[in-house]
Amino acid sequence: MSASPKLDALRAELQAKGLRRAELHDDPFVQFDAWFQFASEADVHEPHAMVVSSVGADGMPSSRHVLLKGFDHGFVFFTNYTSQKGRELIDHPQASICFPWNILSRQVRVVGTVEKVTESESDEYFSTRPRGSQTGAWASHQSEVIADRSVLEGRWAEAEERFEGVDVPRPPHWGGFRVLPREIEFWQGKPSRLHDRFRYTVDASQPTGWRVERLSP
Ligand SMILES: Cc1cc2nc3c(=O)[nH]c(=O)nc-3n(C[C@H](O)[C@H](O)[C@H](O)COP(=O)(O)O)c2cc1C
Repeated sequence: MSASPKLDALRAELQAKGLRRAELHDDPFVQFDAWFQFASEADVHEPHAMVVSSVGADGMPSSRHVLLKGFDHGFVFFTNYTSQKGRELIDHPQASICFPWNILSRQVRVVGTVEKVTESESDEYFSTRPRGSQTGAWASHQSEVIADRSVLEGRWAEAEERFEGVDVPRPPHWGGFRVLPREIEFWQGKPSRLHDRFRYTVDASQPTGWRVERLSP
């Protein structure tokens, strides 16, 4: 049960309508853009929040939310390169993403390879962040064990002092990743668990570069 009657009605409408092959765009990024715009306009809370999973050296997967900051030929997010996810994605550059738009009875799943965005892309995005987030990026040694909150606050105060009166530069350990999809799946919930699923797979033999297949729910 959601707290929004408007979203409840919209979800019921989408479930009734379902998803048909003929409605899908040939380019999965255009299709993603349509669903992303829809979720944004429907007031889904943080539609750009996505779950990214990485894999450790021992094969253990690990998932967390990050915020999508752009998409072109890949899905871009920013983080600390020395964090758990940062190290895992550098050592093992493959990831999965899930957009959990369950309030709309929809999800989008992506699997693909991962690369760092260019330094200039990271610089450009870092420069748009609020100053407190910029100094916070210097203060947080993301994913490290710390004794208590005062350690973090102390490091933040140090960063504030260090960069007082000047623009905060991007820390060298902070930047973006781009997930380049090999597969993108669009899932639309339907009654009686007869959901609609379509998977786009990279396929050079197709005129569009993508093969589209319906999957059993
Ligand atoms: C909604 C939401 C959005 C988040 N966005 C980001 C993000 O864009 N980048 C980031 O590094 N962490 C983000 N976080 C925090 C991560 O989920 C995670 O706690 C942190 O990056 C450390 O992950 P790791 O130890 O697996 O590397 C977000 C958390 C939530 C709940």
